[in-house]
Amino acid sequence: MLAHARALLTSTQEGVTNYVDADLREPSTIVREAGKTLDFEKPVALMLMGILGHIEDHDEARSIVRQLVDALPSGSYLVQYDSTDTSEEYVRAIQQYNDGGSIPYILRSPEQIARYFDGLELLEPGVTSCSRWRPDAEALGLPAEVHQYGGVARKA
Ligand SMILES: C[S@@+](CC[C@H](N)C(=O)[O-])C[C@H]1O[C@@H](n2cnc3c(N)ncnc32)[C@H](O)[C@@H]1O
Repeated sequence: MLAHARALLTSTQEGVTNYVDADLREPSTIVREAGKTLDFEKPVALMLMGILGHIEDHDEARSIVRQLVDALPSGSYLVQYDSTDTSEEYVRAIQQYNDGGSIPYILRSPEQIARYFDGLELLEPGVTSCSRWRPDAEALGLPAEVHQYGGVARKA
């Protein structure tokens, strides 16, 4: 991931791009370092995508989200998704992945994912399976659900 950042996240005339090499469990470091590039007087989009499952304790994960969101001004957005425990096969697959010595990934329930948005204004359709979040109109109806839930919310 960092190798890609070094190669691709380079500034252009259109705007400044930067990346921070930090542990998500240190949100104050992330906010401090991001503040060297971002203007926290203006709305910011915070995207936590497929990463909170690496924080084993759900309360700690929620606390991290809260600390990051607290640093943002009104009008900012949180975009968040993570994989869910909504399929027995997927639960088994992630168990195998974790048993293989990778950084552990904890599947959450859709209700636990929804808690990350506490205190924020969820945009329609709320927290859903990602494939069902504003899907393109399809002749064959709604796309199949995926075992990954998320949403988008605005900070008032
Ligand atoms: C499933 S990938 C998701 C990557 C990307 N956000 C996406 O949506 O494609 C999870 C990423 O989180 C990183 N990661 C895991 N634990 C982390 C931590 N404590 N702090 C920062 N990054 C972490 C992993 O190295 C990996 O790159």
